[in-house]
Amino acid sequence: MKVLVAVGSKYGSTREVARAIAETLETQGFEVDFSDASDVRTVAPYDAVVLGSAVYGGLWRRDASAMAKEHKTDLLARAVWTFSVGMETVVVEGQPKDEAYGISDRIGAREHERFSGAIDSEKLNIGERALIRALDPPLGDFRDFGAVRSWAEGIAAQLAELAVS
Ligand SMILES: Cc1cc2nc3c(=O)[nH]c(=O)nc-3n(C[C@H](O)[C@H](O)[C@H](O)COP(=O)(O)O)c2cc1C
Repeated sequence: MKVLVAVGSKYGSTREVARAIAETLETQGFEVDFSDASDVRTVAPYDAVVLGSAVYGGLWRRDASAMAKEHKTDLLARAVWTFSVGMETVVVEGQPKDEAYGISDRIGAREHERFSGAIDSEKLNIGERALIRALDPPLGDFRDFGAVRSWAEGIAAQLAELAVS
C-alpha cells in the first residue's frame, strides 16, 4: 500500500512530527512518500493520505488547507487521517480553536489528532514575538514523539486491515 504523508509547517516543528509519522509507517512496511503540502500535485497514486499542519491563529497553514480543498474529491475516495500541531497556551480568546476539525470532516478523515508543538522565540517575526510576549505561554519544545509514533502505529494497524479486506 502506498501512503502520502503531507505537511504544512512554518518553522519546522510540525514537519518533524510528520517525518516521525512517515518513518513509523515505513517501519511497519508501507511504501511512504513524504512531502510539504505545497509540493503535492496529485494524490491519485496513493491508497492513503496523512495530512497535517501547524496551527496559527486557529488556522492551518495555507498550503495544507489548500491541498485539502483542491484534492477534496480524491481525498474523499481514499483512507485519510489528519493531524494538527499546536499549543493550547497560544489560543487567542475569540479565535477558532483549530479549523482542522472542519477540514478533516470535509475530506472524510477517519481520525483527526492534535499534538503539542514547539515555540522557539528566536525564530519568530516581530508580530509573532509581540503576540507571544502578550500571551506569555511557556516556551520550548512540548512535542511528544512517543504519542506521535503510537498514533502512526494505529494508522498502520488500520491500513493493514484495509489491505486484507
Ligand atoms: C504566532 C503564533 C501563533 C500561534 N497560534 C496558535 C493557535 O492559534 N492555536 C494553536 O493551537 N497553536 C498556535 N501556535 C502554536 C504553533 O502551532 C506551534 O508552535 C507549532 O509547533 C508551530 O509549528 P511549526 O514549527 O511547524 O511552524 C502559535 C504559535 C505562534 C508562534
